[in-house]
Amino acid sequence: MCGIIGYIGPKNATETMLSCLQSLEYRGYDSWGLAVNTENGIAFVKEVGKIGAVSSVSALPKSSVGIGHTRWATHGRVTRANAHPHFSNNKKIAVVHNGIIENFQAQKKFLTQQGFKFYSDTDTEIIPNTIEYHMRRGYDFVEAAKRSLNHLEGQYAIVALHADEDQDQLIAIRKEAPLVIGMGKEENEFFVASDVPAFLDHTKKVIFLEEQDLAIINRKLTIFNLSKNIEVHRKIENIGWDPVQAKKGNFDHFFMKEVAEQAEIIERVVNIDKVLIKEIADEMRKAQGVIFVACGSAAHACLSGVYTLASVAKMHANFYFAHEFKNFKKFLTPESLVIAISQSGETADTLDAIRVAKSCGAKTISITNTFGSSLSRESHRTIIERAGPEICVLSTKTYTAQLAVLTLLAYELAGKMDEGVAKLKELIRYIYYLTSEEVRKFIKKIAENLRYTEHLYLIGRDLQYPTALEAALKIKEVTYIHAEAFAGGELKHGVIALIVHGTPCIVFTSEKNEREIISNAMELKARGAYIIGVGPNNNEAFDVWIKVREDEEANSICQIIPMQLLAYQLAILRGCDPDKPRNLAKSVTVK
Ligand code: F6R
Repeated sequence: MCGIIGYIGPKNATETMLSCLQSLEYRGYDSWGLAVNTENGIAFVKEVGKIGAVSSVSALPKSSVGIGHTRWATHGRVTRANAHPHFSNNKKIAVVHNGIIENFQAQKKFLTQQGFKFYSDTDTEIIPNTIEYHMRRGYDFVEAAKRSLNHLEGQYAIVALHADEDQDQLIAIRKEAPLVIGMGKEENEFFVASDVPAFLDHTKKVIFLEEQDLAIINRKLTIFNLSKNIEVHRKIENIGWDPVQAKKGNFDHFFMKEVAEQAEIIERVVNIDKVLIKEIADEMRKAQGVIFVACGSAAHACLSGVYTLASVAKMHANFYFAHEFKNFKKFLTPESLVIAISQSGETADTLDAIRVAKSCGAKTISITNTFGSSLSRESHRTIIERAGPEICVLSTKTYTAQLAVLTLLAYELAGKMDEGVAKLKELIRYIYYLTSEEVRKFIKKIAENLRYTEHLYLIGRDLQYPTALEAALKIKEVTYIHAEAFAGGELKHGVIALIVHGTPCIVFTSEKNEREIISNAMELKARGAYIIGVGPNNNEAFDVWIKVREDEEANSICQIIPMQLLAYQLAILRGCDPDKPRNLAKSVTVK
């Protein structure tokens, strides 16, 4: 949520930051801005909308230091005035911020009483003004920034610069919101950003700031930990991602590129260290109660995992949405094991669930795509999905990677790891086919029939139920069609009242539950529904059949792929942006 960039070094800060900001736009894209330090004070641009109209930045003078921001609105509407950077009243301090300052109203009132004026509706604007307040009392920029934090409650990542006090200096502060420093290849060159893809073109050497770290970046890097009140040394890590992975290549959209990468990703998951999988499976075996927590697509992966563990490993596991988990914490003991799944590893609700689990003494494990993420650092053990950077706001390849990791765990728990590996390897060629031009063209035709629909229902039983939920989410978020999924058995308990002549319904089938789900399809058909079947066998109930071979537990991986393609094609036909749907952001770092 919101993307931050800061740059200091020999390159032109404006151009460098603009390209970094474009790589970060998946974190928020309702407005953006840049500020650079110049001999005549701070120069800046702010614009509403996606980063594109770059002509406005040509007016910015050359500079070696600057900050930038792409916004996902929390406090205040989408306006130029609310776009970042925000400035102190004396125009000497510029700040970009990700997160929420929960006590901003009280602090704004306090500052107003001290004579400060405010020009936006944001919580952010109190930050530069609180720093100015302390500087007026004689503190230097760094000390004033430190003192300001005592007035700020909530979660934040902040990058700030000052117009006069050491012009070649940035301050970066992290509290419960991600911030990572990139060690540039040039001498005295540093980047600071919310996420690694921002500067992947420039460096793969990074330092992940820890909770309550304050970094002073000038000709060198100095990091203080504010809770310990000492200078700290943080390790430089090498990121395994390739910059090409974060580019669209020959694809029109990241969405389609990432869908097409899924065969390759299954191959990478198969190569995850088996010793790690075995150790995590042992933890699951030992635990008295295995609980999965996650949000959104990752939550659907968890639910799918619960079904897979039950059928392959005969293991009982629970799933809760991460934001609901705290209501069940009284069940937790030191023998409980909480497994959090999160593509970004920065979802505030999921992090909160892990913290709740730890506060009750439970063991925690994370499955995430993001090396160095807060989740991976805060949980006891981590499995990295190895799906590579996912830039499209929608989860596609990271979802299938999560399913593949869960499949490996289930087979290891059943003492059949080799079978699990063979099963996944078997899928690779088939997934190449499912994402091929031939299948894409076929799905496009189906999308043409559905493009004007307002409501769409999806049903599945067993493992096909989480698939229906995930397919509905993909369609909803990128096409804005009302798509709703149900367990097939729920239909007759009320939902069927929604079906009228012509209502499109997608029915996911498998050989295991074919009879029951086909009965449900027939019930829909009898009320005039237009049925799209997804599964191994055609049926007279179907108006259209999307053939997906039978793959038992791996049905969840195979059946979601045509649905991702359908969501994409519908988005294109309806004129929606597949990579950046309205109101969404990639990393949901606020609760
Ligand atoms: C859907 C989607 C979201 C995320 C959810 C959790 O396409 O991307 O529903 O799955 O916000 O995000 P992570 O996995 O980063 O915790």
